[in-house]
Amino acid sequence: MYKTLIYEKKGGIGLLTIHRPEKMNALSMELTDELKKFLDGIEGDEELRVLILTGAGEKAFVAGADIQELAERDAETGQRISKERQEIFARIENLRIPVIAAVNGYALGGGLELALACSIRVCSENALFGAPEVKLGIIPGDGGTQRLPRLVGPGRAMEMILTGDPIDAREAFRIGLVNRVFPLESLMEKAMELAQTIASRPPLAVRFAKEAVNKSLEGGPAGFALESSLHALSCTTEDKKEGVAAFLEKRKAHFQGK
Ligand code: COA
Repeated sequence: MYKTLIYEKKGGIGLLTIHRPEKMNALSMELTDELKKFLDGIEGDEELRVLILTGAGEKAFVAGADIQELAERDAETGQRISKERQEIFARIENLRIPVIAAVNGYALGGGLELALACSIRVCSENALFGAPEVKLGIIPGDGGTQRLPRLVGPGRAMEMILTGDPIDAREAFRIGLVNRVFPLESLMEKAMELAQTIASRPPLAVRFAKEAVNKSLEGGPAGFALESSLHALSCTTEDKKEGVAAFLEKRKAHFQGK
């Protein structure tokens, strides 16, 4: 169905693999178009609880924008492509369900920016994270200048973006860019465990919590106001009633997403 993506679904967990292994899974126009179609397809999938994103092969998550295509980019196409990818990554960031990036190697340029748009990042020991754009005479265009400083602080983000030099998995863990580091062989199993844990939680609470945390990233009082409203809304759900009752009755809760 897709040329550059592989999608599998097991229970409520989706696994999307970026698949251009011969080009280190670099983001081509075709791949971007397919990502858009993929998002159109899953947005209405009510069964889906968590999405995991990874890259094909054992070397790369995504090694950035396709540099062959980048060679052709001028001001006009640069603006258009940047806006388009910003929109796609924002759709991933704001997806109703959490998205886990399982970074299995190079996450450079647009690959780093894709990982940053995910809700949670885990990686393998061989992962490398970098924003090499400056080395190509450009700056990140897929949201990296906004999301990286929020996640790791402006000083560290500046260093990565201004030098273009990558950091390894251990350093990415140390600065909070990734939550956990695993041997490559166990990365997908561990990512799946994390997805299953989140998928076992009540879907509406997970959705509201994600939305409120995302709002905090915009800064200002709006995030706190939204948090209060969504907290109030979550108190009206059947799942809340069931969760509280199950706790008090010392039994397992059965959540319906209502
Ligand atoms: N765009 C297009 N092609 C890419 C690519 C990219 N971003 N990254 C890698 N490739 C291609 C290489 O050109 C090569 O193709 P070829 O076999 O047809 O020559 C193939 O993928 C394998 O890459 P190679 O460089 O041989 O592997 P490596 O293990 O020596 O190095 C990287 C891997 C990721 C360090 C290196 O490919 C690299 O620096 N890529 C560019 C990263 C970048 O600057 N991205 C940001 C763009 S804004």
